[in-house]
Amino acid sequence: MGVRLIKISVVYFLIGVGLGMYMSMAHNYTLTGVHVHINLLGWASMGLAGIYYHLFPQAGESKIGTAHFWLHNIGLPIMMIGLAALVLGNASFEPVVAVGGTITTLGIILFVVNILVNVKSVGR
Ligand code: HEM
Ligand code: HEM
Repeated sequence: MGVRLIKISVVYFLIGVGLGMYMSMAHNYTLTGVHVHINLLGWASMGLAGIYYHLFPQAGESKIGTAHFWLHNIGLPIMMIGLAALVLGNASFEPVVAVGGTITTLGIILFVVNILVNVKSVGR
């Protein structure tokens, strides 16, 4: 899971920074919330989780790690597409943001439990 998360995180980095460049050039900050969460939940959080899972394979290879991976990777795109549509004026997308945000949050709760339970210092 570590390597996969690290690779997915750089794709979010490219999209997030690309969106930041677009917002700057267009002087249009409507999508700031999307930019922020693509960078922080996609690039930063997934990248960090990937490094943790690589450092602590017991956590990266656990069932709860797999569940975190899928919830985070299914929830975030749903939340981002919903949020983009919402801030661009489609009020009907609010439930999509809620569903995506809830799935992502459940994934992050599992990540927290996984780190607390499965990360152990190696005795030397
Ligand atoms: C070339 C790269 C980037 C560009 C051109 C860019 C551009 C922007 C722009 C235009 C805004 C809106 C500012 C405003 O509303 O006044 C913004 C906000 C923000 N960006 Fe970026 N960004 C970049 C990379 C990143 C990265 C890598 C992160 C985080 C890992 C990030 C985090 C944020 C945050 C948290 C805000 C909201 C700031 C606030 O609430 O005041 N940005 N960015
Ligand atoms: C599923 C998890 C999350 C949800 C549902 C969520 C939701 C929200 C909401 C509703 C806002 C207010 C948006 C607005 O008024 O435009 C917000 C703003 C913000 N969030 Fe999150 N958030 C999440 C995770 C995170 C994480 C992990 C970070 C940082 C690592 C973060 C950083 C920010 C920042 C910097 C802003 C201010 C953005 C701005 O200036 O427009 N969020 N978030």
